[in-house]
Order: sequence, then C-alpha cells, then structure tokens
Amino acid sequence: MAEITKTETIWFNGAFVPWHEAKVHVLAHTLHYGTGVFEGIRSYLTDRGPAVFRLDTHLERFFRSAATYEIPIPYTREQLTDATLELVRRNRLETAYIRPIAIFDVHTLTLLPADAPVTVAIAGWPMGAYLPAESDRGVRVTVSPVRRFNPSAIPPAAKSCGQYVNSVRATQDAARRGFHEAILLTDTGDVSEGAGENLFVVKNGVVVTNDANAAILMGITRDSILQIARDLGIPTEIRTIRPEELPGADELFFCGTAVEVTPIEELDGTVIGDGRPGPITRQIRNRFLEIARGRHAAYFKWLAFARAGAPHQKVGSAV
Ligand SMILES: Cc1ncc(COP(=O)(O)O)c(C=O)c1O
Repeated sequence: MAEITKTETIWFNGAFVPWHEAKVHVLAHTLHYGTGVFEGIRSYLTDRGPAVFRLDTHLERFFRSAATYEIPIPYTREQLTDATLELVRRNRLETAYIRPIAIFDVHTLTLLPADAPVTVAIAGWPMGAYLPAESDRGVRVTVSPVRRFNPSAIPPAAKSCGQYVNSVRATQDAARRGFHEAILLTDTGDVSEGAGENLFVVKNGVVVTNDANAAILMGITRDSILQIARDLGIPTEIRTIRPEELPGADELFFCGTAVEVTPIEELDGTVIGDGRPGPITRQIRNRFLEIARGRHAAYFKWLAFARAGAPHQKVGSAV
C-alpha cells in the first residue's frame, strides 16, 4: 500500500541530506495557507535498471503549477531532472514513488508571499499499489457528496497543496462509508474525477474520458492511456460524462501515477460489468505496465533511465 518508507536521503534545497534533516519550520507560509505545488512521479524497474516514467512531463507540470501560484523555483528543469535521477540512484529505488514539492517557507503573516523564501525538495521511496486492487479484482467506489471545486476559485490544471483538502474530504467520506475511493462531480453535476486520479468509462468498445471542462487535473497517466489506446486501435472519445452513465458502463477504471490503472468493480452497490476487470481495462493496464517497465522500445521516450549508459531522455524532448 501507500505507506511512506524511510530512505537514506532526500534532495533538499540543492543538496542531498539525511532523511530526518529534510524539515521545514512550523511557521512556513505553505503550512498555513496551502501555497505550495507538488508532483507525484513513479519509477519502475526495467531490464536497463530503474527508469522514471515521464519525468520530463511531470517536471514541466511542476514548473507550470509553480508559475500559477507565483512560486519562483530557484532551480532549472535540468537541475531537477538530475536531482531526481541521482535520488533514484542514491536510494537504490526501483518500483518507487517520487514526490517533488516547492513551498513558500517562513515569511510574514500576510497572504501575499512576495519575496518569501522558496524551499524545494524531492523525496522518493519504494512503493507498490496505492489502491487495494489486485490483478483480478477492482475497487469499490462511491459518487461523493463532496463536489469538486469550481475552476473559477482554484485552477485545476495546477497541482497545488491547498486544493487537496477537497480530495481529502471526499476520501474521508468514502472511507467512513466503507468504500475504497470517491468519484467527485463538478458543481454543475457532471462527472469530474476520482479524489486522486482520473476516470475512464468503457462503453460499446469505446474508451471515454473527460477533460479540463470537467475541472479535472489533466493527468499524465490519462494522456498516456489515450495514446496507448489509440496505438492499440481502441477508439477513444473525450467528452462530458454524466453520472447516470456510470452504473451502466461496460467497464470503469481509474488512472493516475499512484493508482496506475485501477479497475472499478462496484459503484455505490452496483456491480460494473461482471464485477471483474473487463477486457479493455486489462489490455490497457497490461500495456501501460509493460511500457513503464521498459518492454516497448517505441515508448522509451517516456522513460528517463537512471543508470549511466542506458538510453537517456533529453530534457525538453517531445512527449
Ligand atoms: C486529483 C488528481 N487527479 C488526477 C491525477 C492523475 O494525474 P497523473 O496521472 O498526472 O498522476 C492525480 C494525481 O496526480 C490527482 O491527484
């Protein structure tokens, strides 16, 4: 599951420090006002050693999120790329989760963090599955009474710390009612996404998902799945999804860095399909994991290999 396990080192403001030394002050601006941005990234073990999945795209989103909240990250993308790959090597990470974060540190009490010091850290630890789905089982989910925030209040495209109180509330409600995960609706009642992942619906052989119009975080896994589906010759559609469509779907699955591709077997007591991961979900999930584990050379562009001599993803390369 998703426990954080202690590793040797964390990259902290430009240097590798021991795990316990990566600390911030209790008066850090971000701790009070949520003014930070972060990423969730995974590494996988390939035949050529560990590789970070779509590192370049994640760091691109990290810098975009920071720009939205006017957080001046005092490092370049190249420096954070090198730091991430060095972190993988130093902590001997294989199947792991990597968490870069940029925050406003101790400043004043004011809401305007202009000139506040910025702290940037990258931690990473071994991690397997995030949701309790097994290869032949899915998760049980509920449509949450907690609605996804309106984009006019908080821009969903940025991955900011503060916005996750919305997801935490939905997750707490789902857990209290015995579900593994929550699906949030937009404030106008369309389907948005899971508390920490995007949603796909499979109906009549077509793989359907929504987009920024549904206030989702535009997931990098979602983008990967769409490309994989097209490469597999599976028709895709991007459109508004109504909650009434969900119980009658042939298959439903979540996708995200943490959950990878997680089938949904039950929605508020209604069994989806025959209650087992459907054929399209399985096909996409298998292909996704094969790609992440370096089994398809055509997708090496998505892998940043940590080991010297392995094919290397160029910073800024097309994705
Ligand atoms: C709210 C939310 N939606 C979607 C995603 C999936 O995004 P990605 O595939 O880039 O990890 C995440 C995870 O980062 C998330 O927290």
